[in-house]
Amino acid sequence: MILDKIDQLIIEIGNLSAKNAEEIESLRLKYLGKKGEITNLMADFRNVAPEDKKTVGIKINELKQLAIQKINELKDNADTGNDTLNDIDLTRSAYPIQLGARHPLTITRNKIIDIFQRMGFSIAEGPEIDDDLHVFTKLNFAADHPARDMQDTFFIETNKEDVTKNIILRSHTSNDQSRVMEHQQPPIRVICPGRVYRNEAISARAHCFFHQIEGLYIDKNVSFTDLKQVLLTFAKELFGNDTRIRLRPSYFPFTEPSAEMDISCHICGGKGCGFCKHTGWVEILGCGMVDPNVLEACNIDSKVYSGYAFGLGVERITNLKYQVADLRMFSENDVRFLNEFESAN
Ligand code: PHE
Repeated sequence: MILDKIDQLIIEIGNLSAKNAEEIESLRLKYLGKKGEITNLMADFRNVAPEDKKTVGIKINELKQLAIQKINELKDNADTGNDTLNDIDLTRSAYPIQLGARHPLTITRNKIIDIFQRMGFSIAEGPEIDDDLHVFTKLNFAADHPARDMQDTFFIETNKEDVTKNIILRSHTSNDQSRVMEHQQPPIRVICPGRVYRNEAISARAHCFFHQIEGLYIDKNVSFTDLKQVLLTFAKELFGNDTRIRLRPSYFPFTEPSAEMDISCHICGGKGCGFCKHTGWVEILGCGMVDPNVLEACNIDSKVYSGYAFGLGVERITNLKYQVADLRMFSENDVRFLNEFESAN
């Protein structure tokens, strides 16, 4: 009698199915709960004749194990099966993902690129690790010229016989320009944004790396007037229409004549304030007419073509626009600093 009941339950439990966690729990209670079928069988066990106790006992245990196993199986399937779809609450609000802000240097770089692109410049990029040939030699730095000291950098590999083969971290993005000139005949009109390195002690005003945007324009009959006009337009676009510029004579090995450009102080409008050290002017870039030696070194006929070049520091321009007190803040990745630029664009 009890053996028939056990066989019947084995078949029944073998065929169990459930749609969700609630149904599984009610099945568990039905068979394994305190008043469950199997628990009841255990109670009936007392009345089994002594000679049958062994067989019946083994059978009941098997049945119990089967039930436990089946319930666990149903639970496992429910965890991985489609039934979990029922647990998804589509009305719940999304996780509060904090939106970041663009890095201030990226904001400035994009602005500058945008201005020059509108004036017909395209972007040229090159390697940050380059040889001396492209960083210095082709740009008219003689091997033993002190101008190299102005741009002391980091050496990856030195070559005692031939300095042009030294491998270094570029100290300006002009290496992109020597590479463009090598591969392309004029007209050339490019800007070269990128990271550059210098061997400087790190302080609030100097870092061992910073970002530059350099420009190069080579064509027939390019004159200093063209350079001046492009830079004036640039300054007005970036700092406002009232901005004036002034060019002071300077020296760079790759340009002749060379100049530093100042803009009228955009804080006091040129009247003189603490920011411009009461001069009314702030320096923003270096520029000049490309030295014919550079053109020749890059296989461009200097009797047919002429050109101008300029170079500026993105950190410096960002400082002027947003008055960031310490250069190191740009690379510290402090989100409190970065979040201040959320509304800048
Ligand atoms: N390459 C110069 C520097 O990094 C900047 C510059 C570029 C000056 C082009 C003049 C002309 O200091």
